[in-house]
Amino acid sequence: MTQPENDVLKAAQDNLWLHFTRHSAYQQSEIPTIVRGEGSYVYDIHGKRYLDGLAGLFVVQVGHGRQELAEAAAKQAQELAFFPLWSYAHPKAAELAQRLAAYTPGELNRVFFTTGGGEAVETAWKLAKQYYKLIGKPLKHKVISRQIAYHGTPQGALSITGIPAFKQMFEPLVPGSVRVPNTNHYRADEITGVKGMTPEEYGFWAAERVARAIEMEGPDTVAAVFAEPVQNAGGCFPPPPGYFQRLREICDEYDVLLVSDEVICAFGRLGTMFGGQKFDYVPDIITCAKGMTSGYSPIGAMIAHERLFEPFKGGDAMFAHGYTFGGHPVSSAVALANLDIFEREDLLGHVTRNEPLFKETLDGLRDLPIVGDVRGSGYFWGIELVKDKATKETFTADESERLLRGFLSKALFDAGLYCRADDRGDPVIQLAPPLIAGPEEFAEIGSILRGVLTEAWSRL
Ligand SMILES: Cc1ncc(COP(=O)(O)O)c(C=O)c1O
Repeated sequence: MTQPENDVLKAAQDNLWLHFTRHSAYQQSEIPTIVRGEGSYVYDIHGKRYLDGLAGLFVVQVGHGRQELAEAAAKQAQELAFFPLWSYAHPKAAELAQRLAAYTPGELNRVFFTTGGGEAVETAWKLAKQYYKLIGKPLKHKVISRQIAYHGTPQGALSITGIPAFKQMFEPLVPGSVRVPNTNHYRADEITGVKGMTPEEYGFWAAERVARAIEMEGPDTVAAVFAEPVQNAGGCFPPPPGYFQRLREICDEYDVLLVSDEVICAFGRLGTMFGGQKFDYVPDIITCAKGMTSGYSPIGAMIAHERLFEPFKGGDAMFAHGYTFGGHPVSSAVALANLDIFEREDLLGHVTRNEPLFKETLDGLRDLPIVGDVRGSGYFWGIELVKDKATKETFTADESERLLRGFLSKALFDAGLYCRADDRGDPVIQLAPPLIAGPEEFAEIGSILRGVLTEAWSRL
């Protein structure tokens, strides 16, 4: 290793505070350090190549190393590096807002830019509260969201998040957030207490939990329901058939805003520009971020139905909310160039055409004794690991700790696959490669997973 490389590793050890990371894991070993990327692959500081099976963090849709995105950033920085959207506009944010509005379904035409996903969620909740105050329903302020769902780390977004372990250290959080069951069909029997519901019955049942929660809280107090098209945490839960259609009806019936949190599911992750389009529903608000620039520069957005903007149009009304870097000119320019690549390379078509093969590859692992379920949509899949396939028995906390943290994460990475081994719900492995990936990358993912999961089973 060269001296500059040693310096980087030392600086990482001495001065970086990693996110959601147990630093104790790196007391005896160096922090894995990624220095460059190309296409669907990244390279570490030692020159070793890894298949980026998570697109960074569900972000790098068009793949790594795209020169035209770097050039778009440089050009914009030279022309206008920064100006805020506080009472002023700049061309790239305006153009991007118009372009996003054109992609969204229905009348979701009003774009409020943020710098990331958690801020978009935070913004959506604040808008819902103020909107109802302005239209004369001031009691409406509560939100409903689903168990184990992750919606970000700002205190409002964290309050909406359904993962108790991430919240406890920061309580009390923002009051007024209520949980309902998620759509984990694999465990529907346990969740519902009813054996063998059809997917349609389960979809209806799960949506009805939202109606019950609204009734229990009092419809006059509930402002919004937050749900991802495919729930990430817990391991890629797609909606059962009819779920979102029923949820839409319920939200309309009780005058509650349906917020589709598409921080992961937008921008082609499911093969559609926005995630709700995959499942034929039109929300009142979309929150998005990650893939908008493929990560070449940070940005997020809350996209609202035109009617939610109405009360802010006249008089002294104002949404007293904003972020210095929201809709940053460089990020906006990069987002536009990123969306150009989407269109030129027909990435949505590519994902849709390749989804069946990706599914087939992962389904091919079902013969392994540790693979309980394979589920997902587009280029967004989870593999749930179990101790006993027949009973669906999951691992104890201790076993999960040994399996996921003690072995799987590192073994997959050592074998050349960067992906996520996660235990926010039951233990899962998640795959979400760049949208340019295809048959060769799927085969590599399948082969690495087979080897490592086989070994994991033998160690149990
Ligand atoms: C559904 C969802 N909402 C919100 C967030 C938070 O986004 P960010 O990390 O950009 O704040 C995430 C992050 O993964 C997410 O998956």
